[in-house]
Amino acid sequence: MSAKSVTVRQLQEMKSQQQKISVLTSYDASLTHLMEEAGVDVILVGDSLGMVIQGQESTLPVTLDEMIYHARNVARARERTLLIADMPFMSYRTPDLALESAGRLMKEGGAHMVKLEGGATQIEVIRQITAQGIPVCGHLGLLPQSVHKLGGYRVQGREADRAEAIRQEALALQDAGIDMLVLECVPSALASEITLSLRIPVIGIGAGINCDGQVLVVYDMLGMNPHPPRFVKDFLKTGGSILQALRDYVAAVKDGSFPADEHGFS
Ligand code: KIV
Repeated sequence: MSAKSVTVRQLQEMKSQQQKISVLTSYDASLTHLMEEAGVDVILVGDSLGMVIQGQESTLPVTLDEMIYHARNVARARERTLLIADMPFMSYRTPDLALESAGRLMKEGGAHMVKLEGGATQIEVIRQITAQGIPVCGHLGLLPQSVHKLGGYRVQGREADRAEAIRQEALALQDAGIDMLVLECVPSALASEITLSLRIPVIGIGAGINCDGQVLVVYDMLGMNPHPPRFVKDFLKTGGSILQALRDYVAAVKDGSFPADEHGFS
């Protein structure tokens, strides 16, 4: 990493200083160059690429080799951003396999951190990966890799017992060693509570304004999703160019004008 790169430590300091963290997905070099110019802090090579690049119905078919391919394309273009790569479905079903997969995403994909979905069941996996010095980002709330178990892409944690389970899982993941947490599609009040209770940065998507930062799928915020979820804002509509839309997104995350109430859930 170059001296000017965003680091895990800096993200932690940004949380402490209440500076918001801007995160976007990217899957290629061209968009990554523009994100660098726009001042995005963190790029996530998400397994959402299965849907937005490959046209699959879910993220489940994405392979580790495909994740490595896209991560490498992004890694070649990045300069300052911290690069997170998603661990695809079934690539972390045992601690040993998870370590092998995470190692490949770092060595071959150029990632600085890996992200995996789930709570209590992932504690051993997280311990195994972090013990080797690999930073891990957790992911709670709506878990796209569990879409069939969840019965669709729906808000999680509205019922008191589910909300409490997510609260406890967030603390357990932090204790297991994660450096960052993504909260997807949970009520804004729950996300706010969890953000306050954790030392590590919490990045929201459909989780309200009080998270430490925000993430969106880049094609969604560029208006390319014909059926955008409620938490998405089309920044290209007002920005007029891709670069300006990216700049506006970063500015809106930083000054707290995105997400607005209408992008969140109660
Ligand atoms: O795969 C992805 O792009 C993600 C984000 C939506 C958080 O996990």
